[in-house]
Amino acid sequence: MLRLLRTNALRLAAVYFALFAVSVLALLGFVYFSFAGFVERQTEAIIRAEIRGLADQYEQGGLGGLIDTIHARVSGQQVRATLYLVTDERLEPLAGNLTGWPRAESLRPGWIKFPVEARDGRTSETDTALASVFVLSGGYRLLVGRDLSDAEAFRARMNQTLVWAGWLTFALGITGAVVMTRNMLRRVDTLNRTSERIIRGELSQRVPLNGSGDEFDQLAANFNAMLDRIEQLLTGMRHVTDNIAHDLRTPLARMRARMEVALLERPTATRYVKTLRDTIHDADHLLATFNALLSIATVEAGARRDPLVAIDLAKIARSMAELYEPVAEEKGLTLTVSSDAAVSVRGNLHLLSQAIANLLDNAIKYTPSGGVTLSVRRDRAAARLEVADSGPGIPPDQREAVFNRFVRLEASRSMPGNGLGLSLVRAVAKLHSGDVWLEDNNPGLKAVLSLPASDERALAREAAMPERPVAKARRLSG
Ligand SMILES: Nc1ncnc2c1ncn2[C@@H]1O[C@H](COP(=O)(O)OP(=O)(O)OP(=O)(O)O)[C@@H](O)[C@H]1O
Ligand SMILES: [Mg+2]
Repeated sequence: MLRLLRTNALRLAAVYFALFAVSVLALLGFVYFSFAGFVERQTEAIIRAEIRGLADQYEQGGLGGLIDTIHARVSGQQVRATLYLVTDERLEPLAGNLTGWPRAESLRPGWIKFPVEARDGRTSETDTALASVFVLSGGYRLLVGRDLSDAEAFRARMNQTLVWAGWLTFALGITGAVVMTRNMLRRVDTLNRTSERIIRGELSQRVPLNGSGDEFDQLAANFNAMLDRIEQLLTGMRHVTDNIAHDLRTPLARMRARMEVALLERPTATRYVKTLRDTIHDADHLLATFNALLSIATVEAGARRDPLVAIDLAKIARSMAELYEPVAEEKGLTLTVSSDAAVSVRGNLHLLSQAIANLLDNAIKYTPSGGVTLSVRRDRAAARLEVADSGPGIPPDQREAVFNRFVRLEASRSMPGNGLGLSLVRAVAKLHSGDVWLEDNNPGLKAVLSLPASDERALAREAAMPERPVAKARRLSG
């Protein structure tokens, strides 16, 4: 209950209730004032009309005519609703249904209010009557009045109704406010409870949706989507850490074993030198793995220290092919390059070179004989770089898996490498808003790197620019 008092929802509900109550009360007040006076005004109008009629009667038929008319009126009444009295100047009754001149309190000129015995005549109670007095020529007085018990009953009834309406408004308003607040709190509570459980470590918890698609449902859905994403990232991270641990343990264990053996065996300078050389080689491998992991992480985090500039992808491809030409040749493979004149992309020169190098390295490494082709084409809005080989290829169901860190296929375990090359290529592709995937080359494998192509003119502009201002601009922006 205390918590309920502190909530925003309750404040909202209170405002809602206040507005609700004010409008209902204003409405009731309006109804009261327009109806309460209405019945009395109606009564006065009837009395006035009656007096006017009777006065006319007196003018035309004289006193006798007036008395006859009043007799007729009185005897025609089933219930005594209208009161009549005609008196002479000494207030002696001549006709009517009142026994004598009433002891009245006068209201305004011509109007009086006085008690009369109750209409049904059985109880000793009295009703109140409202009457108007008219002095006829000749000193006769005419009194016409009406029993106000109907009007009063109406007013009392209305007062009662209004009081009840007030209470009802109050009750409905309070109930509405409480229900509204409770309902809102319950939804927020579900969210809070779930987050608390997640904080306590139950990462698989999700907020239930009620299917209404309202704002709370949307919030819950977004919350769940966020949790899914976090879980996915955590799982990925755990995978990577497991793999790192696993992959680094082997070379470390090997290093240790080698040094231990060197200590146990007969100490000779040549043996020590060899052991040290091998150890350095292993350490280099470890460092290379760390560096590769770090660059993937940096690229994936999107931390581009260098701004993306207009680059000719065909040109980089040609120079990377030149670099790998001797390696291919040594293995007896042919390396062919085919490209459009210039294919412009916006990118990071260093990272793109690294990605192409990784693809070429794989193609040459895993192809026992035959050839490797590197081609760069502009395909509508995309720059498409393909590295195709005639090697064993990769089965379709594994073509996505090899992009994960440390994944190496069984067939290539004998080759050097640690399964990070393609991960970096993918990270670089994503950084450039592009993608990389593997296709069948029948036979062999074809790796396709697709990047958004940029305007050729940008390339020309950038190439035309003198070197120094660019360097300067970079320094300024960095
Ligand atoms: N051209 C290819 N032909 C056949 N298999 C390939 C080819 N390219 C990659 N693979 C397979 O995909 C795996 C992952 O490749 P990736 O480049 O990520 O790692 P790696 O080459 O094993 O090591 P690294 O590139 O880190 O030195 C390889 O181990 C190999 O099994
Ligand atoms: Mg590789």
